[in-house]
Amino acid sequence: MNIISVKNYQEMSKVAAEMLIEKLSATGVNVMGLATGGTPEGMYKQLVKLASERNFSFKDIHTVNLDEYVGLSDEHPNSYHTYMRNHLFDHIDIPDANTHLPNGLAENLDGECERYEKMITDLEQVNIQLLGIGANGHIGFNEPGTSFNSKTQVVQLAESTREANARFFENEAEVPTHAITMGIQTIMESKEIVLLASGSSKAEALYELICGKQVTEKVPATVLQRHPNLTVIADEEALHLVNSVQHS
Ligand code: PGA
Repeated sequence: MNIISVKNYQEMSKVAAEMLIEKLSATGVNVMGLATGGTPEGMYKQLVKLASERNFSFKDIHTVNLDEYVGLSDEHPNSYHTYMRNHLFDHIDIPDANTHLPNGLAENLDGECERYEKMITDLEQVNIQLLGIGANGHIGFNEPGTSFNSKTQVVQLAESTREANARFFENEAEVPTHAITMGIQTIMESKEIVLLASGSSKAEALYELICGKQVTEKVPATVLQRHPNLTVIADEEALHLVNSVQHS
């Protein structure tokens, strides 16, 4: 595990964008796994800026997102489809056909999960998967208790996740109760993972991921201890528990 400790959210965003664009410039790297939420917003802003400054083209890159809410249309202001258009896709030259997110309005949700998983398999491998981390240790929307063997699936969101995400909606009642998410096994199959974390609300989960003695389904992020190529980019607040233990 490679841990990059940065000062704050802004530095995390810059370091992550720089790293991503460098990795995407390497030959053979053409499938990028994407995350949503508050954490990567700044990174996407920096990525758009860097791509424009360096004339970096995304036309041969494919993206696969981790998750989407069940019941929200592509056009819904809080869907992750909309998030991705607003923060990235509308500002770069990626072809629409190369961008992939689960369809949260599919009539047959299990069929949609199978389609999504197969689509990822058909792309061969996600070269770099971007991840955030939930305060409860979730990755994607794989909440505590999710099997490490899970593939893309429909999940029920933890109440704490709905509370955390209520800030993006009018009120908590509007936060969907379910989502489609890549499974933990799907995530672990990516060649390389870059996880971003900022702020003290992530400190406990990050501590378990980095220092936790047990790899346990109770804290999904601990599975990442088994990934052969993981980079964590985290700021001082998110790392404060890790640092206090390492310095004591
Ligand atoms: P956040 O969510 O970036 O909005 O904090 C991260 C996550 O839940 O994985």
